[in-house]
Amino acid sequence: MNHIHPIFDKLVQRTEREKMLGQRGTVVWMTGLSGSGKSTIAIGLQHKLHRDGHLAYVLDGDNIRAGINKNLGFSETDREENIRRIAEVAKLMADVGIIVICCFVSPTRKIRSAAATIIGHDDFREVYINTPLEVCEERDVKGLYAKARAGEIADFTGITAPFEEPARPDLEIKTQSLSINDSVELLYSFIKERITDQKL
Ligand code: ADX
Repeated sequence: MNHIHPIFDKLVQRTEREKMLGQRGTVVWMTGLSGSGKSTIAIGLQHKLHRDGHLAYVLDGDNIRAGINKNLGFSETDREENIRRIAEVAKLMADVGIIVICCFVSPTRKIRSAAATIIGHDDFREVYINTPLEVCEERDVKGLYAKARAGEIADFTGITAPFEEPARPDLEIKTQSLSINDSVELLYSFIKERITDQKL
């Protein structure tokens, strides 16, 4: 941080932007296996929020890894850097006043805790999209599980790399017993109170 002089205090404040938008910024952090349904639920939530007049934006693993993080792979160190950059971006977006819906495998407690620390616990809602590995593998929407089993993809989460379940997520969605619509509704009602602060 040598020779760095942040000017945050001189800028228009977050609360003023939130007043303008009529919502509070927040980060909904979805974690879960590849193919668990994170992106599908995120897309549904974003549309619902948009219809309700809210500004929401989805940050998704496959998109981010095609752009800002395209130099990163899936080693533990690269995943940590992937999530660090995303968390910094999400933090800025929440500061704009946006409802940021993050969909990342973010497979370890260490990685998710680092994200929460960067974003700030007040703005970080951890949502566990809990879909058993067998179901994700059975769906295999992107054909990646078959490739991982065939040894064509190294360090594949759930197969050759670990996924640690969140110990105490703020919300858990078991997609096996809920439809996509019901999952979106559950998540929506969970964040509604947070984003529509009466004081705005
Ligand atoms: S994370 O572990 O660093 O959080 P991220 O969410 O960005 O992962 O990216 C996961 C997506 O990348 C998966 O949904 C899948 O489409 C793809 N992918 C490619 N290789 C792997 C791998 N080895 N492990 C997990 N996902 C992979």
